[in-house]
Amino acid sequence: MRLAIISDIHSNVDALQAVLADIRASDVQHVVCLGDLVGYHTFPRETLAVLRDSEIRSVHGNHDLMAVGRLPRDDCGPVARKAIRWTQTVLTEEDRHYLASLPSELYPQRSILCVHSAPGDPLVRLRTSGQFYGEYLRIGESDPEVRLCFTGHTHVARAMTITPRGDVLCPLERDITLDPAAFYFVNPGSVGCPRDGDYRAAYAMLDCGAQRLSFRRVNYDPTRVLREDRRHGIRVEFGPFVRRSLRSRTLAAVRRVARLIDVLP
Ligand SMILES: [Fe+2]
Ligand SMILES: [Fe+2]
Repeated sequence: MRLAIISDIHSNVDALQAVLADIRASDVQHVVCLGDLVGYHTFPRETLAVLRDSEIRSVHGNHDLMAVGRLPRDDCGPVARKAIRWTQTVLTEEDRHYLASLPSELYPQRSILCVHSAPGDPLVRLRTSGQFYGEYLRIGESDPEVRLCFTGHTHVARAMTITPRGDVLCPLERDITLDPAAFYFVNPGSVGCPRDGDYRAAYAMLDCGAQRLSFRRVNYDPTRVLREDRRHGIRVEFGPFVRRSLRSRTLAAVRRVARLIDVLP
């Protein structure tokens, strides 16, 4: 079975359509979304319609919970707050019901757990090796069969490996053969709002038979979405992505080094 994991679409329906076209061309049987379907960009209803029509299962993210009033808006920055306020004015009753019905966890297989950030906490940002190790221990206590946890929220595509000896490693490869004795956290990155210096839409694919994980990026034209955002006075951080500028490549390299330093003990 091939499984595609998408996350943090944030109402960018054009990025979502581009990713789904890429997934359809890749012989994928199941797609799971890690939440933050809405927020930031300005096509929430169109995004939810695509997800519903495609019957894509999703967990809720913090922006989805804010949009339906189950989390306070004060926990996020001014752009996110403004976007959520605007989103609340355009969602229909059906949209709100759909967002409110999303679960906090999904298990595409018994050994695979999908959450927005961490089990029971859609807000925490998992960054350091200590945080990942702590979550690994907690999941081991509640769900000992889980070997792979897909987690979104940070908008940064990366994997973290917990080795059988308890070391926490951050593999840099974009294609990884999973070690059956290790535990993995995998963040597929963001479809609609990446924050790792590459603004193409991000997602991840898992070949469950071959135990092969791939990080994917998809080009698309963001002009229409960014124009609509501006029309509503919402300015989402969004940089060059089709031809990445020297600045964005430098920023991405700095962030990669910072992440590496972050995971060192
Ligand atoms: Fe997000
Ligand atoms: Fe989030």
